[in-house]
Amino acid sequence: MYDAPNREMKVDQKTTKISARGVQVYYGDTHAIKDVDVDIEDRTVTAFIGPSGCGKSTFLRCLNRMNDTIDVCRVKGEIKLDGEDIYDKRVDPVQLRAKVGMVFQKPNPFPKSIYDNVAYGPRIHGLARDKADLDEIVERALRRGAIWNEVKDRLDAPGTGLSGGQQQRLCIARAVATEPEVLLMDEPCSALDPIATAQVEELIDELRESYSVVIVTHSMQQAARVSQKTAFFHLGNLVEFGETGQIFTNPQDSRTESYITGRIG
Ligand SMILES: Nc1ncnc2c1ncn2[C@@H]1O[C@H](COP(=O)(O)OP(=O)(O)OP(=O)(O)O)[C@@H](O)[C@H]1O
Ligand SMILES: [Mg+2]
Repeated sequence: MYDAPNREMKVDQKTTKISARGVQVYYGDTHAIKDVDVDIEDRTVTAFIGPSGCGKSTFLRCLNRMNDTIDVCRVKGEIKLDGEDIYDKRVDPVQLRAKVGMVFQKPNPFPKSIYDNVAYGPRIHGLARDKADLDEIVERALRRGAIWNEVKDRLDAPGTGLSGGQQQRLCIARAVATEPEVLLMDEPCSALDPIATAQVEELIDELRESYSVVIVTHSMQQAARVSQKTAFFHLGNLVEFGETGQIFTNPQDSRTESYITGRIG
């Protein structure tokens, strides 16, 4: 007899991975992020959308302290990862960025071999016991980056010699090699053709099973395809945050509606 699965057991309880409260960001006198509160869920893809200059990249960079590297930038407020303040003096930003990885708009492989691009993070964080272990970590990351089959016979070739789409998947493999818990992606497909874009989107969907993914995108189609939650930013404010389906079909704020219908942006 067929045993029906216990549905209740399958209910996927999402927990908050990152919580931000009262976040303000200034570049000198420019007030780029204004009092943003948001909870980013675990094992969910969250899309940040909004017109150019509204603060999407700035807010994304707050989540792994990449703004620390910009001299004029000041961040205020509170951001917690699993309940721990990431701006606490005891937090090492390098360790934090291994947990909260980042993929940028332009693929930026190191001028090293494909193997060394992926092995770099695990090496500096001492994640491999020996060479065989490192080989395994590199292979697993390249598989997760959906690029293993294309590069397995040329791991010693330079990463910069790959096509744009392959380089971006290599960068994703590099980001996942340190087993991050959160992956931040700032317009990861803007330099890619439709086929490579589809591959990266498929990959994002798979990564969601293990990670919390936050993606900045200018493509509303992409946000609708890959995300479960969407945040709409406008002039430094987080105007609206909710289920992606609701944001795109039934926005509550007139600014969100104007943006998604193409009247602003
Ligand atoms: N390094 C910086 N120094 C000074 N001002 C900056 C810096 N980076 C961003 N800004 C300013 O902060 C505001 C938000 O910029 P941000 O790059 O976060 O916007 P965005 O939403 O990512 O835009 P886009 O969609 O064009 O990438 C803008 O007014 C921008 O000019
Ligand atoms: Mg940006």
